[in-house]
Amino acid sequence: MLSLNRTRTQSRSTRSMSLGGMDYVDPKKKSNVVGKVFMAAALTALCIIMLKRSPTFNTPSPFAHYEPGVTHVLVTGGAGYIGSHAAFRLLKDSYRVTIVDNLSRGNLGAIKVLQELFPEPGRLQFIYTDLGDAKAVHRIFSENAFDAVMHFAAVAYVGESTMDPLKYYHNITSNTLGVLEAMHTHGVKTLIYSSTCATYGEPEKMPITEQTPQKPINPYGKAKKMAEDIILDFHKNSDMAVMILRYFNVIGSDPEGRLGEAPRPELREHGRISGACFDAARGIIPGLKVRGTDYKTEDGTCIRDYIDVTDLVDAHVKALEKAKPGKVGIYNVGTGRGRSVKEFVEACKKATGVPLKVDYLPRRPGDYAEVYSDPTKIRTELNWTAKYTNLHESLRVAWRWQKAHINGYSTPQSI
Ligand SMILES: NC(=O)c1ccc[n+]([C@@H]2O[C@H](COP(=O)([O-])OP(=O)(O)OC[C@H]3O[C@@H](n4cnc5c(N)ncnc54)[C@H](O)[C@@H]3O)[C@@H](O)[C@H]2O)c1
Repeated sequence: MLSLNRTRTQSRSTRSMSLGGMDYVDPKKKSNVVGKVFMAAALTALCIIMLKRSPTFNTPSPFAHYEPGVTHVLVTGGAGYIGSHAAFRLLKDSYRVTIVDNLSRGNLGAIKVLQELFPEPGRLQFIYTDLGDAKAVHRIFSENAFDAVMHFAAVAYVGESTMDPLKYYHNITSNTLGVLEAMHTHGVKTLIYSSTCATYGEPEKMPITEQTPQKPINPYGKAKKMAEDIILDFHKNSDMAVMILRYFNVIGSDPEGRLGEAPRPELREHGRISGACFDAARGIIPGLKVRGTDYKTEDGTCIRDYIDVTDLVDAHVKALEKAKPGKVGIYNVGTGRGRSVKEFVEACKKATGVPLKVDYLPRRPGDYAEVYSDPTKIRTELNWTAKYTNLHESLRVAWRWQKAHINGYSTPQSI
């Protein structure tokens, strides 16, 4: 109380001196300054003592240090469709997870679901960052002790990539380079990379094996292939453990209905077949358009390999477990079985219970008749096989989530 009063008096005298414009150092003022410095030092010391006594001061973030028996995985793009399912599986398997996402395409709602399921300290943290910001990425790596990276973050629509190729080369190729550099600088030794069957282009022979030449035909596939090449070149002189997983067409959602696929409405036009099927079932679009009925396939429509997201994330966990320093593993992740678009549409009608209107149109240029994987390598080397291979069942599970989340993650409700 006393010192406060004195300070007020002193500051009044200081003010009047400066008003007078005199260049004069009052000896009283000098001692005041010394007093203030002393007081500031005392207060700082007090704050430090109080902070040190606080239970959280001496406990660094559990994410910042390595802990024996705990594997800390950085999941980039963890707010997105596949990344959120992967983060969920990792958390269920007792991994420590850091999600980095710029929410450009993903959903904060997915992160909230995960945080509610795993609220314990040291399980899950979310960092809102754009991977194109190299400084921010390096800061994240210097402040966290990662054991491995699962790099899902990407823009991922073939159609959009043909309209805006530079976005794809930046977001996929350049950002992968940035992540790799940060891993190298900060000594993170395991990378699981999300690649795609789009890197193969239009192979002449089916099924596609890992030996099938990669000749991508659109910027999305090319950007992913370039990212793969960068990783492989870097790896030649590194002891990093690298697993490259080339996914086929991903469908489905968490069987227990906690997570789903909720792409931005504005991306609908570039969307994938399952999204179109659900949009048609909800009346958002008038019906489905099947392009091409005269392909040399059994029913004349295109053949694709649909892999359930639950199987896909299982492949990631197996890849992580089997990743070895200095080694690269490249694997197709598909069921090995092709399904026609007609078959898919029928499964969709059955799963949604909606008699969808289907227009059969001429072929779309650039579509290829058949694409399906040979999953022998991943089965033999990682002991992985697709289990959720019932198309109707995968779509039924995904539809259940869609019905309960008409507006995606924002306002859960039922119809
Ligand atoms: N969905 C498929 O059928 C499929 C098939 C083959 C490969 N893939 C690959 O799987 C990965 C995940 O795909 P998805 O279907 O979950 O897509 P998605 O759009 O649902 O998720 C991608 C996530 O990455 C985030 N992201 C994008 N750019 C970012 C950036 N610069 N910084 C930080 N975060 C960023 C988005 O916000 C989003 O949350 C992608 O690499 C994609 O190429 C997907």
